[in-house]
Amino acid sequence: MLVRNATLVDGRSGIDLLVQEGRIAALGPSLAAPPEAEVVEAGGWLLSPPFVDAHFHMDATLSHGLPRVNESGTLLEGIALWGELKPMLTQEALVERALAYCDWAVARGLLAIRSHVDVCDPRLLAVEALLEVRRRVAPYIDLQLVAFPQDGLLRAPGAWDQLVRALDLGVDVVGGIPHFERSAADGTESVRRLCELAAERGLRVDLHCDETDDPQSRHVETLAYHAQRLGLQGRVTGSHLTSMHSMDNDYVAKLLPLMAEAGLHAVANPLINITLQGRRDGYPKRRGMTRVPELLAAGVNVAFGHDCVMDPWYALGSADMLEVASMGLHVAQMTSAAAMRQCFDAVTTNAARVLGLEGYGLEPGCRADFVLLQARSPAEALRLRAQRLVVVRGGKVLARAPQAVMSLNLAGRPAAVDFTRHPG
Ligand code: FE2
Repeated sequence: MLVRNATLVDGRSGIDLLVQEGRIAALGPSLAAPPEAEVVEAGGWLLSPPFVDAHFHMDATLSHGLPRVNESGTLLEGIALWGELKPMLTQEALVERALAYCDWAVARGLLAIRSHVDVCDPRLLAVEALLEVRRRVAPYIDLQLVAFPQDGLLRAPGAWDQLVRALDLGVDVVGGIPHFERSAADGTESVRRLCELAAERGLRVDLHCDETDDPQSRHVETLAYHAQRLGLQGRVTGSHLTSMHSMDNDYVAKLLPLMAEAGLHAVANPLINITLQGRRDGYPKRRGMTRVPELLAAGVNVAFGHDCVMDPWYALGSADMLEVASMGLHVAQMTSAAAMRQCFDAVTTNAARVLGLEGYGLEPGCRADFVLLQARSPAEALRLRAQRLVVVRGGKVLARAPQAVMSLNLAGRPAAVDFTRHPG
């Protein structure tokens, strides 16, 4: 395959990209197309590595309304509602919903997803379903699974054994939820046990950590402590970290360098944080999202996750990581040119670092996975939620869409309405 005349995320334009045997063989201006190569005319549009979702719940997705909707809109009613739904789940329905979501993902150029999977079910029904889904979507999507004790590692009977069983079955990452344990001490203990388990098995860690508006929820400090103590730098992620939004600034000033020293990754989930957090506030209402620009400035890798799509916690969403990044941009007021680029990176390269994806990127030797966006720059892609014109995986086209145009033309230009042009 030869992709001709693309613009890259770093601003280089007029770039051709040559694919051989599923990898990027060359990148530069005016490359020759080998005989019989499939030529993709990029037309100057933006060629990006695929979107990566660093935090999702594929076992719950597309279950909105089953058996009822979340009336309060809170995290805790969502957890209770998921508890009502769990006994009704069947493996067939879980697989069908997850595969339907994966279709959406591919169409949106989202080709790598880290999904938490609830292990607080002695049958491990969702674990087995998502392992099956991981196998079936492997040609299209890197699906990484996290063993997630939704009801608490120490709080839910049998959770530890089920988590270990899930890892034995092939689940990739160790999960947890320290702020949901019965006490802060139990939360601290759960972080220690989970990090030690990951260190023993050579696995990564990704905890739902401090997903609360309580500024005293400080399990991220313990997570950084054990990551550093056990030599797990670069392999441990704190997801949500919403309590950091409400923490005392002096405490955060101590915490940020400790997180950077421990090589923690941070994942914010802007759509979910802005809807679930601050629910008990009067006005002014807190936004609840963690301190993204400050974490980045401290040297912490920050990614954005979708977290939920049409499930007990969130009735909206469509696998569109540009929507996720746009919400993150707005909530964190990341409006400078450099900050908008950081928001784009949070759903591409930074998220790939969270997952530890091999061969990710648009450089020679990388996997030939990319998406052609109908935009001229990352900021424009965010502004337009740009159409995904072509989605490629391993040098094969998985999805195509026509350019988004309409024929109404009040400005009197010769072509159809072009959202990428402006008169100024
Ligand atoms: Fe989550």
